[in-house]
Amino acid sequence: MRVGVLTGGGDCPGLNAAIRGAVMRGLDFGFEMVGILDGWKGLLEMSTTPLTLEAVEDILYKGGTILGTSRTNPYRKPEDAEKAKANFRALGLDALIAIGGDDTLGVAMKMTQEGYPVVGVPKTMDNDLSETDYTFGFDTSVSVAVDAMDRLRDTARSHHRVMVMEVFGRHAGWTALFTGIAGGADWILIPEVPPDLDAMCAHLKTLFEPGRKHYGLVVVAEGVELGEEEDTGEKDQFGHVILKQRQIGDRIASIIKERTGLDTRTVVPSHIMRGGSPTLFDRMLATRVGVKAAEMVKDGQFGMMAAQRGLDIVAVPIEKAAGVYKTVPTHWYDLAKVFFK
Ligand code: F6P
Repeated sequence: MRVGVLTGGGDCPGLNAAIRGAVMRGLDFGFEMVGILDGWKGLLEMSTTPLTLEAVEDILYKGGTILGTSRTNPYRKPEDAEKAKANFRALGLDALIAIGGDDTLGVAMKMTQEGYPVVGVPKTMDNDLSETDYTFGFDTSVSVAVDAMDRLRDTARSHHRVMVMEVFGRHAGWTALFTGIAGGADWILIPEVPPDLDAMCAHLKTLFEPGRKHYGLVVVAEGVELGEEEDTGEKDQFGHVILKQRQIGDRIASIIKERTGLDTRTVVPSHIMRGGSPTLFDRMLATRVGVKAAEMVKDGQFGMMAAQRGLDIVAVPIEKAAGVYKTVPTHWYDLAKVFFK
């Protein structure tokens, strides 16, 4: 079998570990593995690279993706969709492993429905994909953000300031929540919970009362809305607004400064969160879902993705995951609130 592998959407740590897992397992089955460059763009342009043992044996620990990625949506125009399918045939692919988030997996699902065998491997630093407990990329990204929090605390404490950190995470608050809880935030704002800015400001003021610590740390998810947002900004090919443009961190910092008079600064680690070598957790998860994907190809489990359920990696229908965001349930935010003291 000739099996294609592509990575689509935002890069994240663990993509190379997943590619290596899929290729190494594919080689066990005698598959010829071929990389499609830059996500679905590579399928439209027929740009490929051989995925031999030599190509993947030294990539486990590397950040980013050796295949390149893009946010190209082949279903944006009917002619592109036809081209993608024609190229699938022209490249002689018997199957394709698509590693990506909601958008990439949505395309994988459509292609399978139209008779082109695709297996999905979920990844996203946002951890917002349904049907899987975790996605690789999340653990490394949040570890970077927690490290940033520890550094910010030094300046916050020295200057008696409030530091606001805006983190990636799009529709779901997982990255902000985990960064905030593990980084010791005094307040966390996530898209799932309407912002109570009065309560936040009143609380931050108490931190500066005699005997208290005299600094404050706030984490805000980029997708938090204050009710005045207009979606007129630039969008990607899947129709997502580029949230960084909304500058929610700066807006929250201005509100804090205005209402409390406290010296406040904003930090946005943005893409720094997505780079670097994957953590142990992400290496293991990425390796396991990559291996599983090759096994799913062998077993003909198309239209399915390799998901983590408890301690196991299982095949689940992409249909159940694509388009349904896994958002933060209330009880998780209740845990964060225990520390808003
Ligand atoms: O989906 C992953 C993500 O990191 C989001 O958290 C963020 O909004 C987006 O990608 C940024 O995308 P880009 O790298 O295309 O600017």
